[in-house]
Amino acid sequence: MSQAKPLRSSSTGALKGTIRVPGDKSISHRSLMLGAVAVGETVIHGLLEGEDVLHTAAAMRLLGAWAERDADGVWRVRGVGLGALAEPAQVLDMGNSGTAARLLMGLVAAHPITCVFTGDASLNKRPMARVTTPLEQMGARFVGRSGGRLPLTVVGSDAMTPITYRLPVASAQVKSAIILAGLNTPGATTVIEAEPTRDHTELMLRHFGATVTTERLEDGALAVTVVGQPELTGRTIHVPSDPSSAAFPVVAALLRPGSEVLLNDVGMNPRRTGLFDTLVEMGADIAFENRRDQAGEPVADLRVRYSRLKGVVVPADRAPSMIDEYPVLAAAAACAEGDTVMLGLKELRVKESDRLAMVAEGLTRCGVSVEVGADDSLTVHGTGSAPKGGATVATAMDHRIAMSFLVLGTASAEPIQVDDGAFIETSFPGFSTLMNGLGARIDEV
Ligand code: S3P
Repeated sequence: MSQAKPLRSSSTGALKGTIRVPGDKSISHRSLMLGAVAVGETVIHGLLEGEDVLHTAAAMRLLGAWAERDADGVWRVRGVGLGALAEPAQVLDMGNSGTAARLLMGLVAAHPITCVFTGDASLNKRPMARVTTPLEQMGARFVGRSGGRLPLTVVGSDAMTPITYRLPVASAQVKSAIILAGLNTPGATTVIEAEPTRDHTELMLRHFGATVTTERLEDGALAVTVVGQPELTGRTIHVPSDPSSAAFPVVAALLRPGSEVLLNDVGMNPRRTGLFDTLVEMGADIAFENRRDQAGEPVADLRVRYSRLKGVVVPADRAPSMIDEYPVLAAAAACAEGDTVMLGLKELRVKESDRLAMVAEGLTRCGVSVEVGADDSLTVHGTGSAPKGGATVATAMDHRIAMSFLVLGTASAEPIQVDDGAFIETSFPGFSTLMNGLGARIDEV
């Protein structure tokens, strides 16, 4: 991605329509990775064809699997079988995606191959020690840049030792990396998490035939155990719409008077729905219709109507279930009446950008009063009326910063411009077209 793509969002009338946002990014990455180590064919429906996931598909091919696109969102993967990933002849370029890099590092760590991982300027700044530390305890070796950053070489092993590991940060990526390493490790590998993070790896592994158990410990933490070296069999997977992508049209519809938007097939995994809970607390009119199960993941259709929002306190323990949604919640909070206080946002500092800093800086430029606390909290002082806008906001290679400020632009007095909307392609291809189809006015500058 080389060419910056500035985008401008102007105030709109009501947003109306029925949409389906693209497939879940977390589930898409995992379906390609597990399909690649299963025996037989995996057919994926609704795969997110964003750049992050396409990097995973390319990596799985370099590791020996066959993965091809049949039709829109329909992909076939023929796996090599667990333990049989081939040493790639090229560097594995994971682009902008922390999930792709960290999960795959776990998977290859338990194979007797050497792989070199790299990414774009954003990914190569992000901390990797959080995955290399437990994987080293299991027996893999890593040589990276200072702070364990990419580019980084993994020297994997097929003689790994299972571990029991208590997560020092609430991170589904770290949990998943260890579980995926545990897959090709004889014995039981256990990850203990004090706060529940997304469990797509666990759910999908069971779908492929692995044994993954959970146990509640005395201190309330959850121990997740995978039994190593199962026979994984290719499966059919239906990927729900990404609740983290749905968040953008949901908030836009809440902010524009007269709006009514129906979003079909949105993933409702309870470990992902913290934003919707928070918006409802703020007074949002969101109806969760037609709740059902789709290949092991709960989904619903969301009917969202314009609502007058009021500020709330978002507790720190809700962070794992809405970790990617704080930027767009901050946009909603900027238009709500009263203060919204978001607690426990330390992890936002190590996402695709320092999201705490980028949100605070962007909102300030748009005339919104905010405070960042020494405890990594964010307070947004909403006035219940349209923020001024009329600014250009820096996005720092971060898709969600870009989309959040474009959503804010639909409701601000003057247009909001983002310096680069190109990274939206990593997670939400067709974002501007879909939003404009509802009545938004997002244009290339
Ligand atoms: C993800 C986990 C989260 C999230 C990311 C996707 C996953 O990261 O921010 O967008 O698919 O496991 P952390 O585990 O680092 O919190």
